[in-house]
Amino acid sequence: MGDKKTVIVTGGAGLIGPSLIELLLPKYRVISLDNYFIGSEKNHIDGAEYIKGHTKDIESLLGGETPAIIFHLGEYSRVEQSFNDLELVWESNVAGTFRVLQYWKKRKCKIVYAGSSTKFSDGGLGRDQSPYAWMKASNTELVKNYGEWFGLPFAITYFYNGYGPRELADGPYASVLGRFKKQYASGKPITVVAPGHQRRNFTHVDDLARGLSMVGERGQGDEYGIGSPESFTMLEIAEMFGGEIEMLPERKGNRLESVVDTSRVEKEFGWKPQHTVREYIESLKTQKRK
Ligand SMILES: NC(=O)c1ccc[n+]([C@@H]2O[C@H](COP(=O)([O-])OP(=O)(O)OC[C@H]3O[C@@H](n4cnc5c(N)ncnc54)[C@H](O)[C@@H]3O)[C@@H](O)[C@H]2O)c1
Repeated sequence: MGDKKTVIVTGGAGLIGPSLIELLLPKYRVISLDNYFIGSEKNHIDGAEYIKGHTKDIESLLGGETPAIIFHLGEYSRVEQSFNDLELVWESNVAGTFRVLQYWKKRKCKIVYAGSSTKFSDGGLGRDQSPYAWMKASNTELVKNYGEWFGLPFAITYFYNGYGPRELADGPYASVLGRFKKQYASGKPITVVAPGHQRRNFTHVDDLARGLSMVGERGQGDEYGIGSPESFTMLEIAEMFGGEIEMLPERKGNRLESVVDTSRVEKEFGWKPQHTVREYIESLKTQKRK
């Protein structure tokens, strides 16, 4: 372990966590705290330490650590499903996050919170459109207030639709690109939730993780949006795969528009996305042809 500073990544075994851990490892000792609700051991990165547990228990599980930074990613992360999982979302994103904030306050280190761009979608109405969006938006305010009430360093990021090789393709928590990818690979129609013209700024996890690590190193305060400037409707994404498209009924909580604002990460750190969703889909098609 040497003289490396310690960094805690909650949710280190999920989608974005592993890409972040890869970037942090050369410089830091990295500890992940994940309860494996969605996360998987398959996502473990050599060299990181993995603790299994709920964020509610962070003090008892990681009480002996004095991290330089906490990247708080370990929350329930699904929009539409959050209506059915209310208790689970509350336990993770309210009760669990409160304990993470108390842990932060006690250690007086820096926290980086993984907020959601749903706070800004549909002209700001997005924050109230689902239990997930509301709790994520409230947490950005809670983190900011904690920072100001107790004089603690913090930075808040807002991610736009992450995708990448570790996205979930199966089960009730499959991500939309994960689902499309699997349908395409098995020659089935791509199922698009109506109305189909809902717009998303799909952003590669490596671009999200790079922005996140820059904010961890140098960011301070609120409003670090990290997202690709290109937006596509869900029908346009489905069409990129080609083949048959099947429409599914509309679902509650499904925002229509998102407006991306990455001005802080661009101005302060020169962040720019290095990937596009079109290239990613093309690479999946090439893999299938081989
Ligand atoms: N991926 C996106 O498009 C996106 C967009 C906006 C915000 N975010 C936020 O960024 C963070 C990371 O996103 P992701 O896509 O990697 O999500 P993810 O669901 O793939 O990863 C989150 C990880 O946290 C773990 N976890 C959940 N609740 C926990 C708890 N109470 N205690 C310990 N571990 C817990 C899960 O098992 C999972 O491994 C999340 O907080 C999410 O809300 C993601």
